[in-house]
Amino acid sequence: MTELTHPEFRIDGDRLIDRLAALAEIGAIVDTAGSSRLAFTDADKEGRDLVMTWMTDLGLDVTIDGIGNTVGLWRPDGMDETAARSAPVMTGSHIDTVRTGGRYDGNLGVLAGLEVIESLATAGIRPDRPLAVAFFSNEEGARFPPDMMGSLVYVGGMGLEDAQAITGIDGAVVGEELDRIGYRGSAPCPGLVPHAFVELHIEQGPVLEEQEIQIGVVESVQGISWTEVTIDGQSNHAGTTPMRLRHDAGYAAARIATFARQLAADLGPPQVATVGAIDLHPNLVNVVAARATLTVDLRNTDDQILQDAEARLMAELDAVARAEGVEITTRSLARFEPVSFDPTVVDLVEHTAKALGSTTLRLPSGAGHDAQMLARVCPTAMIFTPSRDGISHNPAEHTDRQDLVAGANVLAHVMMALTKT
Ligand code: GLV
Ligand code: MN
Ligand code: MN
Repeated sequence: MTELTHPEFRIDGDRLIDRLAALAEIGAIVDTAGSSRLAFTDADKEGRDLVMTWMTDLGLDVTIDGIGNTVGLWRPDGMDETAARSAPVMTGSHIDTVRTGGRYDGNLGVLAGLEVIESLATAGIRPDRPLAVAFFSNEEGARFPPDMMGSLVYVGGMGLEDAQAITGIDGAVVGEELDRIGYRGSAPCPGLVPHAFVELHIEQGPVLEEQEIQIGVVESVQGISWTEVTIDGQSNHAGTTPMRLRHDAGYAAARIATFARQLAADLGPPQVATVGAIDLHPNLVNVVAARATLTVDLRNTDDQILQDAEARLMAELDAVARAEGVEITTRSLARFEPVSFDPTVVDLVEHTAKALGSTTLRLPSGAGHDAQMLARVCPTAMIFTPSRDGISHNPAEHTDRQDLVAGANVLAHVMMALTKT
């Protein structure tokens, strides 16, 4: 059983919930609890400004790098010089959302990190190392692929200039948007390597709720493969063109979407497959579609099976192209292998949660997270809290207050324990 360094210490749950609510007001989706803050939009800027204010009010040393990753470093007053110069224990997540996001995805991890530092400072507890809380840019990748872009750049997995040059679904360019919202900073990339990293996040799936477990101990993140598929057919008259003469990009797109569902069924769980975006051109009732662009999101915990799924998708695209007389081209938007977290930090999360009285379950993450990028450079793990009805990427996303607070307390005690390692 893990000995807690400060057994009585707890974060301020009311302040955490109030801040989650205040941040959710920015980009609020009317008549829902959710928010819309796609990366590098005006709403994202407003959210960043608010969290930055909280960071600076708390006296953190805040730095922003060239992709907009923002890190607040806490070196408590009176910390001796050697300790102050040592690598921080870092936490964090993201505050961008999908277009129809909830209020907890990412935001919980950032605001809980802030809360841990503020509550420790108020309690007069001085850790043996600096602590840091970060929000990484464009975790969602919904506007500018890939997902986890900011943390990928932070750990040196993508060049800064390459990331800044990426064009989004609306034709905007990352670097120009960063300038426009004032978040192209000058802190170096790759960034400061933490002593260890731990991220608190909602599960975004049904497992914890179904099993009535309060804290998920995340052992791994499944592999992610995003492909953009473009189909070029031929526009023609919907009334006069015999079916045998059509090169219908819309029909070809529908075949691919149906195939993706069948692929997941054939491979079985945990394989998942999603066609989340389809664009038709000219998108008119009486015109056979000339062009379709769609995305295919494939994920699996086993990279061999994921590679098999990708190969089967490519074979199907060839078959559809031949059968329908259309041209199909593809572009990889994201490809990340499955990631295993550090067993020692995973054990620490489990023991800490139990010591605080929570029930626990070890599980893999279905969603991508910034922690999977940080795992490339330092010992890393994650803490999950339950999601009502397993719903996420939806304004109805909800986690009960006591679970949010329990998760933040686990985060606090795990961070304090990591300062001793
Ligand atoms: C990103 O957060 C994803 O899992 O899609
Ligand atoms: Mn997230
Ligand atoms: Mn998300």
